[in-house]
Amino acid sequence: MADAKRGYPDLHEHLEALKQQGLLLAIDRPIDKDAELHPLVRWQFVGGVEEHERKAFLFTNVTDGRGRKYAFPVVVGALAANRAIYSIGMRAAVDEIPAKWDRAIANPIPPRIVEHAVCQEVVIEGAALQGEGNGLDRLPIPISTPGFDSAPTLTATNVITRDPETGVQNHGTYRGGLKAPDRLVIRMATRIGGAGGYRHYLKHQKRGDKTMPCAIALGCPPYVAFVAPQKLPLDVDEIGVAGGLAGEPINMVRARTVDLLVPAEAEIVIEGLIDTEYLEPEGPFGESHGHVALEEFNLPMRVTAITHRRNAIVASYISQVTPSESSAMKRVAYEPLFLAHLRNTLGIRGVKRVTLHERMTALRRVALITMEKGTPRTEVWRALYGATSFRADCGKICIAIDADIDPDNSDAILWALAFRMNPAQDLQVLPHRSQGHGPEREHEQDEEDATLLLDATMKEDLPPLALPKQEYMERAKKLWEELGLPKLRPQSPWFGSSLGDWLPQWDEAAKRAAEGRYLENGRLSEKLRRKGLKPETRFRPDEAD
Ligand SMILES: Cc1cc2nc3c(=O)[nH]c(=O)nc-3n(C[C@H](O)[C@H](O)[C@H](O)COP(=O)(O)O)c2cc1C
Repeated sequence: MADAKRGYPDLHEHLEALKQQGLLLAIDRPIDKDAELHPLVRWQFVGGVEEHERKAFLFTNVTDGRGRKYAFPVVVGALAANRAIYSIGMRAAVDEIPAKWDRAIANPIPPRIVEHAVCQEVVIEGAALQGEGNGLDRLPIPISTPGFDSAPTLTATNVITRDPETGVQNHGTYRGGLKAPDRLVIRMATRIGGAGGYRHYLKHQKRGDKTMPCAIALGCPPYVAFVAPQKLPLDVDEIGVAGGLAGEPINMVRARTVDLLVPAEAEIVIEGLIDTEYLEPEGPFGESHGHVALEEFNLPMRVTAITHRRNAIVASYISQVTPSESSAMKRVAYEPLFLAHLRNTLGIRGVKRVTLHERMTALRRVALITMEKGTPRTEVWRALYGATSFRADCGKICIAIDADIDPDNSDAILWALAFRMNPAQDLQVLPHRSQGHGPEREHEQDEEDATLLLDATMKEDLPPLALPKQEYMERAKKLWEELGLPKLRPQSPWFGSSLGDWLPQWDEAAKRAAEGRYLENGRLSEKLRRKGLKPETRFRPDEAD
């Protein structure tokens, strides 16, 4: 069966590109998908491994908790273990990604419908799905949070449903917990701005349909996978935007047992019918807000067919506590939206960058707004108000910082709060915020949250950070390396620089001292001795006559 013509990469070609760049780690020893696989990959997010050192992990010898062996390999982190991996999938440098998204959203390309597709090289349907080991349990679906999750759960999904009124399809990344060889339960967020698939479910219910057709594509070509977690308007078919990213139509094929189009180059497609009457408990499952989602009633789906490529690879996303593959994927998509909102829509020129804090706070809770030096105080506050109101579930804590503060370094942020913020003047608490995406709490329904805004920018010039100047630190780094000392991982700030309050006279004196000529400084200061002053009286050589 010939693959339809295309220029965009599928998952196999994407993994080959990662391998070429040294970003794919193949693990050939047996790994238990239920107890070992996700925890092993987790170490690269909690083990002090730097973001650029993270890799995609390809497991070629997958077993399970009962010692069963699986025919298919599993890949984790293949789409966004870090920004470099995401940028290979996007075929764009990291800083070109926002513009590429903008262009694709503005210029979608409708898909091409093909007759034959690799995702249907093998078809299992009807009675052949029944019985242990024949249906969903042929697939090595890992457990994400061993010790808490109650089922192997699909994570790297494009869940495809169709609007029964308009006929427009939706792709969303929703989890699906396995229940039986032919049954799983899908979780679609019901909150405002939640899952597009849930809107389709409600429409089917309203029409009196007992079921909603659904197809879950696993391991889609990266462009197709990337559109499913992206927030696009409800009536936009994401596959057109994927075409926009690819610069050509995406190949789609008719599913075998439901009236839906599915990505022709997906690794695996699970077709089925979602029950619109009965719900079934699903979870617990480790959620992307970093807490375990407790059991809740969600949408059961009866599987009508599983189709797959002969050489299928099962993709799984690592999510849960951030940073994770899930947050790496969202961060590159969300941060440019905030920046565009503040700079272009609200016209606040002093905003240089918006950073959504990632480690443990899951992007949505804490936003850092980097301001240009000298931006008027009213504009700093407009940026804080703008960032906090942009999205209902983002920006609970917004902090304005200066450009010298590394927004990815919480120590530096605390340092700015400690030295540059007066809580009596630079802090505001605003009431009326919804709880947003977070852990379940008993009284969540009726309890509002609030907003904290902090201006931690410098209100006046400050003396330099007391670390040696960059040139001395660099010279010492060479020495360090010549001495064969342990590998350095410079953490910003690692050198001192002016924060505004510094004079050329002091620069010259420091230069003389560093050259061993401090006696010259002593001769100069001797001439400036004064009588009748209190110790610690300030002296500024630029004011001395
Ligand atoms: C790894 C991962 C898992 C996700 N799981 C869910 C989920 O179980 N349910 C859900 O409604 N959204 C989930 N999301 C968020 C949705 O994918 C996201 O809101 C997306 O915009 C949904 O597309 P839609 O707007 O077309 O529904 C997940 C996102 C990622 C990256």
